[in-house]
Amino acid sequence: MNGKEKETITSQHGIPVGDNQNSVTAGPSGPTLLEDVYLIEKLANFNRERIPERIVHAKGAGAFGYFEAKKDMSKYTKARFLGKAGKKTPLFVRFSTVAGEKGSADTVRDPRGFAIKFYTEDGNYDLVMNNTPVFFIRDGIKFPDFIHSQKKNPRTNTRDPNMAWDFWSHSPESLHQVTILFSDRGIPKDYRHMNGYSGHTFKWVNNRAEAVWVKYHFKTDQGVQNLPVEDALRIAGENPDYHTADLFESIERGEYPSWTVYVQIMPYEDAWTYRFNPFDITKVWPHSDYPLQEIGKLVLNKNPDNYFAEVEQSAFSPANVVPGIEFSPDKMLQARIFAYADTDRYRLGVNYTSIPVNSPKNASVSNYYRDGFMRVDDNGKGSVNYEPNSFGGPTENMTYARTKYGVEGHAGSTPYEKHAEDDDYTQAGNLYRMLPEDEKNRLVDNIAGDLKNVKPEIVKRQLAHFYKADKDYGARIANELKIKDLKV
Ligand code: HEM
Repeated sequence: MNGKEKETITSQHGIPVGDNQNSVTAGPSGPTLLEDVYLIEKLANFNRERIPERIVHAKGAGAFGYFEAKKDMSKYTKARFLGKAGKKTPLFVRFSTVAGEKGSADTVRDPRGFAIKFYTEDGNYDLVMNNTPVFFIRDGIKFPDFIHSQKKNPRTNTRDPNMAWDFWSHSPESLHQVTILFSDRGIPKDYRHMNGYSGHTFKWVNNRAEAVWVKYHFKTDQGVQNLPVEDALRIAGENPDYHTADLFESIERGEYPSWTVYVQIMPYEDAWTYRFNPFDITKVWPHSDYPLQEIGKLVLNKNPDNYFAEVEQSAFSPANVVPGIEFSPDKMLQARIFAYADTDRYRLGVNYTSIPVNSPKNASVSNYYRDGFMRVDDNGKGSVNYEPNSFGGPTENMTYARTKYGVEGHAGSTPYEKHAEDDDYTQAGNLYRMLPEDEKNRLVDNIAGDLKNVKPEIVKRQLAHFYKADKDYGARIANELKIKDLKV
């Protein structure tokens, strides 16, 4: 269009539309005719605008930016985006709440998701993190039950604290994360003022096939800030999209949020004897044991042009690791590396990686996958579609094979091996004891406020856990709830 002529509306087939105000009817007051193909196409497209929302983390906001490496980490990992100080890698980030639906309020008490897709030259690397360093459960087999307990009651279709606390009280490994959730950090001020944590342990491998274990920490350069409960409640009514708007508007203003990126590195052999099982995501590694090492900076500096195309259709998976980064035996991670691509094939279709936000930007895709719904690229044109072949198609390259590692024991449903200091209470109690007095008070108030609406037998079961973490923690909540006859 030259700017003078007005563009004409067309159908999806590019056919110009003569009237976008009046449907084709039999006379001015007659019924609408089936031959109004444009009306039918327009309504049919409208009817199909919604796709399934994410089963968790449905409400979110995203932005583009870059990661800048601060140091050469090739001593530990052959991942090329970490191999040179000053190297920049473009990325996309999606932040989210967890339990609410796509239209739910941003300022609820909930963990926040912090998912990153690094467009590296070795393919897309996804770090699918939360703003908390631990999680409620340690085995993926419990995840659907856990999420059901956080979502709406199947009968009333309302959130039900009985379900949430019933699950938690039966799953004492959740206590550490429950303590974080009900602390001030349970309601971040917005997405810019919170940290991100891998939670999981990953394996880094260098060019000599030597491995270390790592956990990632993304610390906000804006400083951690949280919302007081009263403000959060008010804002949830006034502007349910508060976090979403804040991220978008700050980037539009040129105030680009950033995070300093650190890793904790554990020598490979330490894993078997460390005082906590290092693969259990309900535990942190105290920084005194494995200090934070700065590796780079994440900056967000570009808003998406279209929310649906780039944010709603984005798809992340902890299975997307690039050479130099491998999985650990964390049972949650192992379940997650199946779950995400599976849900995305359902949510977006088998060819979801050809949606631009999901496709590699600095690496090319070369394989023998063909066809399937919504194949919108050239589908490999006439190239050979099987391997091995004698036509020069792509082949494997053993330099990218994952490192081998030994396993021992009998296959079966077994809990994690307990390390010297492993229990469900010590780290939750340590966190409680670290909190300043005023935050302890708010934590106790927040928990008691929720537990007031919960059945007595569930409250008692849960109170026993708070007591085991710290007597004062349990006693204060019991006192708030006016419970005296607790036998722990
Ligand atoms: C076995 C445990 C888990 C399972 C089965 C699971 C499953 C899922 C599923 C099915 C989605 C929706 C993905 C989509 O529709 O694209 C999702 C989203 C997400 N999960 Fe998990 N999850 C688990 C644990 C975790 C943990 C431990 C974390 C953080 C450390 C986490 C962080 C996220 C984030 C950030 C998203 C949103 C990604 C986005 O923005 O699209 N999840 N999860």
